[in-house]
Amino acid sequence: MHVLVLGFPRACPRVLESHLLMDELVQSQTATPSLPVELHPLTSQNIDGLRRLNSTLFPVAYNERFYVEALGAPQVFHRLAYVSGVLVGAVCCRRENPLQHELSLSESSIAATVVALDSARNQSLGGRTGTSRQSKLYIMTLGVLAPYRECGIGSLLLKHVLNVVLGSPHADGIGEVYLHVQVGNDDALSFYRRHGFVTKCRLENYYRKIRPADCLYVSLSVTTNGLR
Ligand code: ACO
Repeated sequence: MHVLVLGFPRACPRVLESHLLMDELVQSQTATPSLPVELHPLTSQNIDGLRRLNSTLFPVAYNERFYVEALGAPQVFHRLAYVSGVLVGAVCCRRENPLQHELSLSESSIAATVVALDSARNQSLGGRTGTSRQSKLYIMTLGVLAPYRECGIGSLLLKHVLNVVLGSPHADGIGEVYLHVQVGNDDALSFYRRHGFVTKCRLENYYRKIRPADCLYVSLSVTTNGLR
């Protein structure tokens, strides 16, 4: 079992309030909190917890295929974050070879209109979204329960993913990490920008069942020198 135990990167008042007595809280604001975050792989034992977490976090309902494929994927592509034994966040990724990426693009672009946000206005859909002969890592979901946000847990989950991209044999040949952010989700957009991601284009009418229906294609390039 691969379990990574990490401390909070910085003091996290909202979580501390729910775990500590008031005098402990006052002390902890000047010291590194002792509450650990544990990152666990996805297993058949904790997958029901992930189902409940995702239904709380995301407006999109993930079907059974999502969870079956997640369990079948290399363990490094998923991590569940626990605080004091409580599941508070998770990240789930999918490796896409160039053909799979083309297919997922064409599925999404049946309904969606792609609007370039940069100088790539005359490029094809593939050009705008960075499609190439390289494989990609798609961050399907990354979320943290609201009371535990702004404590660095989202960053820990994302750093796990970026470390995998840079160091795991499962990520050999990956040239880009990407995801979709619903338009209006400014917290998520600023979070990914802070980690070096850029917005490549806007997909209009990407979502069928939720509003706003548009999303942004947000991406980070992986080069031989690292991430950019
Ligand atoms: N005290 C105060 N602020 C802090 C602390 C701290 N101890 N630690 C981090 N922060 C700040 C960071 O500077 C950061 O600011 P920024 O995003 O403006 O740059 C902010 O808190 C968030 O950083 P983290 O704490 O690392 O991330 P968090 O755990 O809050 O998770 C996330 C961010 C995942 C976007 C969260 O808001 C969330 O779950 N949202 C709902 C689900 C969602 O929208 N997911 C993303 C879109 S879908 C997808 O990714 C595929």
